[in-house]
Amino acid sequence: MGRLAIIGGSGFASMPELEIIEEQHAQTPWGAPSAPLMKGRLGGAEVLFLPRHGQGHSLPPHRVNYRANIQALHDAGADLIVGLGAVGGITPSYGPLTICVPQHIIDYTHGREASFHGDSGTEVVHVDFSWPYDAGLRQALLQAAGATSISVVDGGTYAVTQGPRLETAAEIRRLERDGCDIVGMTAMPEAVLARELGIRYATLAFVVNWAAGKSDSEIGMDEIVANIAHCGEDVMRLLATVAAS
Ligand code: HPA
Repeated sequence: MGRLAIIGGSGFASMPELEIIEEQHAQTPWGAPSAPLMKGRLGGAEVLFLPRHGQGHSLPPHRVNYRANIQALHDAGADLIVGLGAVGGITPSYGPLTICVPQHIIDYTHGREASFHGDSGTEVVHVDFSWPYDAGLRQALLQAAGATSISVVDGGTYAVTQGPRLETAAEIRRLERDGCDIVGMTAMPEAVLARELGIRYATLAFVVNWAAGKSDSEIGMDEIVANIAHCGEDVMRLLATVAAS
């Protein structure tokens, strides 16, 4: 399948299941990635791992250096990237603890460096992004779900918001009208930067709360942390199965 890299999100700053072989302190023309790259073994295969928010979860979504992260993984030989993402659920089939492999993205972020091209007089590139996720890698994730009997929803539209605050109830109603099923803060510009460098990219998302206004209670960090922990084992089994495939 090629060399797999995993970008860990909230709750996945480290992967105890990864047998670490080497830690690489990468540098790129865009700066340093969020943390040293870990090369290790997962499911019997060699994979790369990078925690998006840094080792101590110190980088909020709008301050992640997405270009450095994707460039460093590219330079380390990544052919495929699975980006993990804790998200809020908007539509009824995407309630807390749902694991899903979204198919579409709507980008509501602003001010993030979203291209490797066009800086300092370099050529502008308009990459095709009609289908933001790689079909083959999505299928590999869904097949891993079948092989492990883990229930995973195939599809859905991921709304990427700026954060770090959560959304207002009115914003979520707008995202729902736009056709979004889940909401998170990190799939963009990660997905498009991977596309620009020819790296096949998919998101493995897990729903950790109902989005704003979709339940009677306030969204609490306790709930989010507990639900991340709940999904953790299934997410790791899915990743190990994909790595081995
Ligand atoms: N909104 C945006 N990002 C998130 C959420 C949410 O409700 N939950 C987890 N990440």
